[in-house]
Amino acid sequence: MNKVLGAVIVVVGALGAYGSAWAAKGDPAAGKEKSALCHGCHGEKGMSVAPNFPNLAGQFSGYIKKQIRDFQAGKRNDDTMSAMAATVTEAQDLEDIAAYFMSQTSMKGAATKGSKADKGKAIFMDGNLEKGVYGCKNCHGETGKGKSADNHLFPVIGGQNKDYLLKQLHDLKEGRRTNDPAGMMGDIAKGLSDDDIEAVAEYISGL
Ligand code: HEC
Ligand code: HEC
Repeated sequence: MNKVLGAVIVVVGALGAYGSAWAAKGDPAAGKEKSALCHGCHGEKGMSVAPNFPNLAGQFSGYIKKQIRDFQAGKRNDDTMSAMAATVTEAQDLEDIAAYFMSQTSMKGAATKGSKADKGKAIFMDGNLEKGVYGCKNCHGETGKGKSADNHLFPVIGGQNKDYLLKQLHDLKEGRRTNDPAGMMGDIAKGLSDDDIEAVAEYISGL
């Protein structure tokens, strides 16, 4: 775990400075128009139209930009989204689109109850140190809304669609998604059983 945490601190330091230098440049009003194509799947206000499309409402602009660049560079792959990312060719358009989705009311799901959600909450809060799983709240925040707007390394996940969360956690666990800095999220996903993933996704989607 110390190795992972050390890497986190180094990456946070490096990206922090980079992030704030870019932060002020996006224009949400311009981004609304420029993101018309995206609304077809991610919703006009960033609440997606189907459970396999992620919500983008309130997501950190720095994280959105990183994902689009990763899709463009082939560091993250999805048949549908890789093709969509390729349409955003101007840096200013990406700034504006990312600023628009971040300015929307943050994603929120219907609260979950029951033993599965309880188990998910325990993983979210405390992790499972025996398996090297550090509690999700330590990086994604108490309510899954990330740390703060100037730390976009750790995305908003609270209130994200469950189907999308399941796919990402399995992609990370099984090595199909490898664009996470220093492999820190993949290491955590590998320590989660399929049941753990089901439970934690149930809990997070209701935040
Ligand atoms: C036809 C549907 C569709 C359209 C249109 C679309 N997307 Fe996506 N988007 C997806 C899917 C599906 C994923 C999830 C990919 C995966 O499973 O890894 C995704 C993922 C993303 C992500 C990653 C989110 C995260 O939480 O990591 C971002 C950012 C994103 N899309 C932005 C955009 C932008 C900006 C546009 C417009 C230029 C756009 N999308 C248009 C389907 C779409
Ligand atoms: C050591 C810090 C750290 C911990 C602890 C952590 N994460 Fe992450 N997580 C990250 C980072 C960094 C990313 C962003 C990866 C990227 O930039 O592509 C991420 C991304 C994610 C994503 C993808 C989000 C998206 O929109 O596509 C999910 C889902 C996720 N984490 C769930 C969890 C869960 C569940 C836990 C607890 C079991 C957890 N994380 C614990 C650092 C962490």
